[in-house]
Amino acid sequence: MSRNPLFALVTALSLMAASLCAVAGEAEDRPWMNRALSPDVRADLALAQMTTDEKLGLVVGTSQRPTGETVGAAGYVAGVPRLGIPGLREANAELGVAVALLHDTVRPEDEATALPSGLATAASWDPAIAYANGRMIGEEARRKGFNVLLAGAVNLARDPRGGRNFEYAGEDPLLAGTMVGEAIRGIQDRHVISTVKHFAINDQETNRTLADARIDMGSLRESDLLAFELAIERGRPGAVMCSYNLLHGVHACENPTLLEKILRQDWRFPGWVMSDWGAVHSTSEAALAGLDQESGANWDPRAYFGEPLAIAVAESTVPAARLNTMAHRILRTLFASGVIDDPPAPQPLAVEADALVAQHAEEAGIVLLRNENNLLPLAADLQRIAVIGGHADIGVLSGGGSSQVVPVGGPALRIEFKEPGTTTPYAMVFDPSSPLKAIAAKAPAAQVTFADGENVDAAARAAKDADIAIVFATAWDMEGHDAEGLALPRDQDKLIAAVTAANPRSIVVLETGNPVAMPWRDQVGAVIEAWYPGQRGGEAIANVLFGAVNPSGRLPITFPASTAQLPRPDVPGRNIAWNTSFAVDYREGAAVGYKWFEQQRASPLYPFGFGLSYTQFRYSDLRVSGGATVVASVTVTNTGTRTGADVPQLYATIPDSGGGALRYLIGWTKLTLAPGESRRVAITADPRLLAHFDEAQHGWRIMAGDYRIALAASSSDPGLAATARLDDRTLPP
Ligand code: BGC
Repeated sequence: MSRNPLFALVTALSLMAASLCAVAGEAEDRPWMNRALSPDVRADLALAQMTTDEKLGLVVGTSQRPTGETVGAAGYVAGVPRLGIPGLREANAELGVAVALLHDTVRPEDEATALPSGLATAASWDPAIAYANGRMIGEEARRKGFNVLLAGAVNLARDPRGGRNFEYAGEDPLLAGTMVGEAIRGIQDRHVISTVKHFAINDQETNRTLADARIDMGSLRESDLLAFELAIERGRPGAVMCSYNLLHGVHACENPTLLEKILRQDWRFPGWVMSDWGAVHSTSEAALAGLDQESGANWDPRAYFGEPLAIAVAESTVPAARLNTMAHRILRTLFASGVIDDPPAPQPLAVEADALVAQHAEEAGIVLLRNENNLLPLAADLQRIAVIGGHADIGVLSGGGSSQVVPVGGPALRIEFKEPGTTTPYAMVFDPSSPLKAIAAKAPAAQVTFADGENVDAAARAAKDADIAIVFATAWDMEGHDAEGLALPRDQDKLIAAVTAANPRSIVVLETGNPVAMPWRDQVGAVIEAWYPGQRGGEAIANVLFGAVNPSGRLPITFPASTAQLPRPDVPGRNIAWNTSFAVDYREGAAVGYKWFEQQRASPLYPFGFGLSYTQFRYSDLRVSGGATVVASVTVTNTGTRTGADVPQLYATIPDSGGGALRYLIGWTKLTLAPGESRRVAITADPRLLAHFDEAQHGWRIMAGDYRIALAASSSDPGLAATARLDDRTLPP
C-alpha cells in the first residue's frame, strides 16, 4: 500500500480502467461471457465457435481421472479451454461429496461431511433441513473444485428391501419430490450443477441393468414420475440422469417416452440428460431418443458417443443439428447455473459448521417409534447405563455404494468382506461419531459400560446390572444389492430379546437403511429409528435419548409386518440367468407403500407418517374448502409439558377409476409449539395430487365430487375428517 494517497488513487483508477478494458476486450472476443445475455443466447454464441470435435468432446465422459487432474471424481468431461468452457468435474453427492469408491487410494482431501441417510432427511419432513443439506454439499463441492454433483436421488421406495432406499426420500411422491427438490435447490444456490436421478423407475437394485419395469403409464405419472416432476419444479436441476433399467422393454437412456415426450414436451426441461454409468446401449438410438451425454463411457462396452457418434454425425444418421442441441443443453446449463461466471474456488472445508448441518438433519429425522411408560427421555442422573452392540463405542453405520462419503476424520471403522463366490471387496464404513461417548457426556455421574454384543450372555449380564440398557442394532444396505428380507442380520434379534429379558428398561436404537422387522417390539421399553446417522450421529442420538432434542421425525416409508404383505413378496430377478432381462410387474401401480397397504387392508408394523414425541399434540377445528383444489386449516395445540415439533398431515381420498378409493398425502406442515401453545395452520394442496393422470386426455383429470379430507398424524390415523367438493377439470400434463 502506498503512503501517498494521490498515487494510490491514480493506481487504483488505472487498475480499474485496465480491468474495464479487459472486460470490453472479453465482450468482443468472447461475447458468450456477457452475463447480461440469456443462457440460451450465450450457449449459441459459444456453440457457433466450436468445432465438431469439440462438440463431440462435450457429450462423452469418463470415470477415469485424466492425467493432470487433481480432483478425484466419479466423472470427468473435457471442456473447451480455448473458449473458456470448463471441464465437468462430477462427484456423487446425495449424502455429502463422495469420491471414494472409484479410486484405489483415498486421500485426506477426499474427506467430506457425511450427512445422515436420505431417509433420515426425508423423515424430518422439513424442507428447510433438505435445503440446508444441499447448500452445505454445494459449498463443500465448490471448495473441492467440483462443478457438477450427481445428487437429487428421488426414486420411490417401492420395496422396503431396496438397496438404495437409504439414498432416497421414501415412498410418497409429494414428500420425496419436495425434499429432494429442496436439496437440489440448496446445491445449485452455491453455483454448482445438480442432477436429479435415476430417471426413471429404477426401483430395485437386484440385476438393475436387466430389470424391465412394467407399469401402467398413468400410474407411473402419479407416482415415480410425479416425484421427479415436483423435484424438477422446485430444484430446477441442471441435468437429469437416466437410469439402468428398462421401461416396457426399452432402456431408460434410449427411451423416447421418458426422455422426449415426458421430460421435454410435457415438462419443458431445458437442461441436459446424462446417462448413468454403464447405462448406454447404442449410439443413434440413444442420441435420437433424447440422451445428450454418455457418462463414464469406460463403463460401457465401447464409447457409444465417442467415435461411433462421430461417424453417425458424419453420415447424418444423427443429424448435426441434434449434436448441436446436445451441446447447447450442456452449455446453457453451465451458463444458467453460474458454474462459468462464479467457478469453484478451492478452499478448506468449514468442517465445524458443516458437521452441525449433519447433526441437525439427524436430530430432525430420528423417529421415536415406541416409548412405554415414558421411558425416554433419560434422566441425566442415571447411575448405570449399559450400551450394547452396533460398534457404538466407535461410530455410526453408513450405507455403501457410490454415495459413500469418506467422513471428515476418516472412517472410524472399515469392515471389509467379500461375498461368497465374488472377488469384489466391500467395506462397511462407520462414521466417526461414537454414541457411547456422547451418552457418557450426557450422564457424567453414570457408570457407562460397553458390551459389543457378540456374546449374548455377557450383554444380558451387563443389561441386568444396569438401570438402563441401550442396544444399537445395525443393518447395512448397499447399492447394487437388495436386502434378503426384513430381519436384522447377525442374530441381533436374539441379542435384543436376551437384553430385554434381562432388563425391560431396554431401548433399541436402529441404525438401518430400511424398515426392519421387530419381533421383540412388545417387550422393549423404547425404540428409535436413527437411520444411517452421519457425521454427528452419536451426538444427535444422545440429544434425543436425554431430551435435549424432542424427537419430531415421522416415517417416510411404511414398516411392514412381513414381506408377505408386499406387492412382490420375493424380489424379482434374484436368480435369473446372466444377461437375461426380466419383467418387474409393478402391479401396485401408483398405490406405492401406504396406499398399497390401504388397498389390501393390511396392517403394517408402523405406518407411513408415524412418529412419537415427548409431548402430545391435539388437532381441532378443521375447515376445508374445495373448488379448484383443497385448502384446509386446523388448530394444532401442544397439550404436553415440553416444547416440540409436530407434522400435521393432510390426506385426501381420491375416487379411483379402478374400483378402490385411496388416501393420498396432499400436504403437510411442520411447526414447533411451546407447552400449551396453539397455532392455526393452513395447507393448500397441489391440484395434481387430487387428480388421476388421464392418458387419453393427456392431462391431470380431477373428477367432480365430494372428497374425504383427513388431517391426521399418520397414513393410518383417521384424524379429523371433513369433505371438500371439487370441480371437474383437466390440468395440462
Ligand atoms: C450410480 C449413480 C452414480 C454413478 C457414478 C452409478 O452406478 O447408479 O448413482 O452417480 O454410478 O458413480
